[in-house]
Amino acid sequence: MTTSAMLTLRSEAASRLRGTITLPGDKSISHRALIFGALAMGRTHIRGLLEGADVMSTRAALEQLGTRITLDEQSGERIWIVDGLGLGGFTAPDAPLDLGNSGTGARLLMGVLAGSGISAVFTGDASLSSRPMARVTDPLVEMGAKVEARDGTYLPLTISAPDQPLALHYDSPVASAQVKSAILLAGLTARGETCVVEPKASRDHTEAMLRHFGVKVISEDREDGRHAARLTGEVMLTAQDIAVPADPSSAAFLAVAATITPDADITLIGVGTNPLRFGLFETLMEMGADLTLSNARVEGGENVADIQVRSSALTGITVPAERAASMIDEYPILSIAAAHAKGVTHMIGIEELRVKETDRIQLMADGLMAAGVSVDTTEDSMTVHGINGGKNGTIAGGVTIDACHDHRIAMSFLTLGLITDKPMTVTGAETITTSFPNFTELMVTIGARINEVTA
Ligand code: S3P
Repeated sequence: MTTSAMLTLRSEAASRLRGTITLPGDKSISHRALIFGALAMGRTHIRGLLEGADVMSTRAALEQLGTRITLDEQSGERIWIVDGLGLGGFTAPDAPLDLGNSGTGARLLMGVLAGSGISAVFTGDASLSSRPMARVTDPLVEMGAKVEARDGTYLPLTISAPDQPLALHYDSPVASAQVKSAILLAGLTARGETCVVEPKASRDHTEAMLRHFGVKVISEDREDGRHAARLTGEVMLTAQDIAVPADPSSAAFLAVAATITPDADITLIGVGTNPLRFGLFETLMEMGADLTLSNARVEGGENVADIQVRSSALTGITVPAERAASMIDEYPILSIAAAHAKGVTHMIGIEELRVKETDRIQLMADGLMAAGVSVDTTEDSMTVHGINGGKNGTIAGGVTIDACHDHRIAMSFLTLGLITDKPMTVTGAETITTSFPNFTELMVTIGARINEVTA
């Protein structure tokens, strides 16, 4: 599913951001809820599903594989219902599965396909078609899948599954939840134990949700510092009810907006606080941000809390490389906070940013420098020189950034526009709907000025 017509947005200097906001559901958990519901026996009910374009691409692909997915609004609440087909229940699609902009949808479904005994073609938009898939398909080939990809790694790509995949012990060179999840999902139908070892624990929503659906998954930190997740295949998933928490990766934009603008005081309700996703908030607090967590609770098996954010002076830090996996999607918005901070913020060990929806090191550095911020980069790091809250000069802004099909690039530069001398303009802003469809509306609700620019 590709996003809609071209959209250009412009943001202007803001102050006094106020309000109590409920953010949309977590993107990672929403994809998994639909996929695991489809693989389960019985009917799964999902509350709080993110209805962004990425998740709807996964929904459409699951429907093409034969899953019935419906929306029940009768109670006034939006409840998505997935009638599970059970493992092995998919039928071969008669058209390519178009995953639009969604790396998570594409890579997790490749794992599912490899364990399902059928064949399918995967396609996507220009951004997804430029992202490496061999990191997922190489281990799936070891499990018995046949894969044909453009230049060996890019979409369009065809996966033909074996009758039964082989269990695999895989030492992953990257900490990637997408790689880990694809292998574990293929392992569900393999005979014996499938194990993925990663250099550092990546987000564990697959493991948590598989347990919720009745599958035994063992996670362990190993003595050598690496992390292992394993399960034994030939299992059954049983349908469940799922409540999706608010996405900490979306909360990050409002949290940074409130931190860097004057006189702000906002509260974000029910945000997921899984430690493997919370690195940005940890980093902001170390930089001096005024964040208060309250009402910590467990909702639908995930830890959540309300987060109050007030304006504050930030000081640059070196963000430890070991933290990268827990905030991998948040470096673009952290670099905006860093531009406002006192001193220098070093972000190291972030080479994975180069293979996201765009090369995020390059795009953030180019855009920040065009707006008047000093930035240094290497292959795996970015260093931002801050303006000390305006005491060391201001950020000129007044430039136009092409989002290049990357929602987080678009939202980051619109957030920068809240503190620049002249407005920031973002073209290709329609991509925001992939993860945060009501971003502009919520920003405007708390008092930001973000407007559509018509030609
Ligand atoms: C995701 C994992 C991360 C993240 C992406 C969502 C997931 O990618 O960047 O937005 O839901 O598993 P990697 O696993 O490739 O790091």
